[in-house]
Amino acid sequence: MVVPAPDLPARIRIHEVGARDGLQNEKSTVPTAVKAEFVRRLADAGLTTIEATSFVHPKWVPQLADAEELFPLVSGLPVALPVLVPNARGLDRALALGARRVAVFASATESFAKANLNRTVDESLAVFEPVVRRAKDEGAHVRGYVSMCFGDPWEGSVPLHQVVRVCAALRDMGCDELSLGDTIGVATPGHVLELLSSLNEQAVPTNVIGVHFHDTYGQALANTLAALQHGVTVVDASAGGLGGCPFAKSATGNLATEDLVWMLQGLGIDTGVDLGRLVATSVWMADQLGRPSPSRTVRALGRTPQPHKEQ
Ligand code: HMG
Ligand code: MG
Repeated sequence: MVVPAPDLPARIRIHEVGARDGLQNEKSTVPTAVKAEFVRRLADAGLTTIEATSFVHPKWVPQLADAEELFPLVSGLPVALPVLVPNARGLDRALALGARRVAVFASATESFAKANLNRTVDESLAVFEPVVRRAKDEGAHVRGYVSMCFGDPWEGSVPLHQVVRVCAALRDMGCDELSLGDTIGVATPGHVLELLSSLNEQAVPTNVIGVHFHDTYGQALANTLAALQHGVTVVDASAGGLGGCPFAKSATGNLATEDLVWMLQGLGIDTGVDLGRLVATSVWMADQLGRPSPSRTVRALGRTPQPHKEQ
C-alpha cells in the first residue's frame, strides 16, 4: 500500500554502487563478463546511475583490476556510469576510455586516508585538486566521496568539523556532488541530521549532498529516511546489499537497493526502478557469487516468480 509521508522529496535518484562498492569487497574476483551482465541488468531494472568500476591501483583492489576490459563493455548503455579515480593516473585511465563521470574519494579521518590512499587527509586533497580541475575542464561530472563521516574503526567517533572541512574543500575544488560515507555503518538518524545541518551552516547546500550508508547496525534505512526529511534527493545503495570496504575492518554491506526501493515505493516516491527486475538481478548475482543476498527485500520477494526470470 502506498501511503505518502509529509515533507519528503517527490523523486529520488539512486546512485547504484553494487558493481563497484559491492564487488570490490568480494573474496573471489568476479569474471568481467559477469560484471558487465550485472551492470546491464541493473540498467534494465531502471537504475540510471550505476557506478561501474574503479581506476585504482590493481594491486590495491585486484577485484577491479579489469576496469579497462569492463568499461568498454558497458559504456554504450543509456545510463550514467561513474567510476572512481584516486589520482591523476586513475583519471588518465578513465578519460582514455571516455568516462564522463568520475569520483574522487577522500576521508574525514587520518587513519582511513592512510589505509585507503596511503596519504594524509591534506596530501590526498592536494592530489585531488588537479584531478578535479582537469576532469571539469574535460566536461566530466565529478563526485567527491567523504568516508568515515560518522565513525572510524581506528579513531572512534568523528567530530563534525573534520567532516565539514573535507566536504567544503571538495566543493571548493569544484566537485559537483558530495557523498557522505558511513563507511562502517555506525551512524544513527540524529547524527545524520546534525551533520547535514552543520554542512548547510558552512555553505554546503543540501542539493549537492548524497548519502552513502552501510547497514552494519541495521540503521541504513532509518538514516536514509532522516536524510530525505532534511531534503536529500541522492541516495547511494547496492543491489542485493553487496559491499563493504577492504580497507576498513568492520565495514559490512551497503544499504540494499531493494530495501530502499521498497521503502520509497511505500512512501509514493518515484525512483524509476522496477523492483521485480532488480530483485531478479540480485538473485542472479547471488547465484554467481554462491551465497544468498543479505537484503531482506530480496529474500522476501526473491522466492516469488519475477517478470525478468520468465523472459
Ligand atoms: P601508492 O602506492 O601510494 O601509489 O598508492 P603511488 O602514487 O606511490 O604510485 C605507485 C605506483 O602505482 C606507480 O607505479 C604508479 O604509476 C602506480 P610505478 O611508477 O611504481 O610503476 N599507480 C597506479 N596504477 C594504476 N592506476 C592508478 C595508479 N596510481 C598509482 N590509479 C593509490 C596510492 C591511491 C594508487 C592506492 O592507495 C590506491 O589505489 N587506493 C585505492 C583504494 C580503494 O580503491 N579503496 C576502496 C574505494 S573507497 C571506498 O570504498 C569508500 C566509499 O565506498 C565510500 C564509503 O563507504 O565510505 C567510496
Ligand atoms: Mg562504501
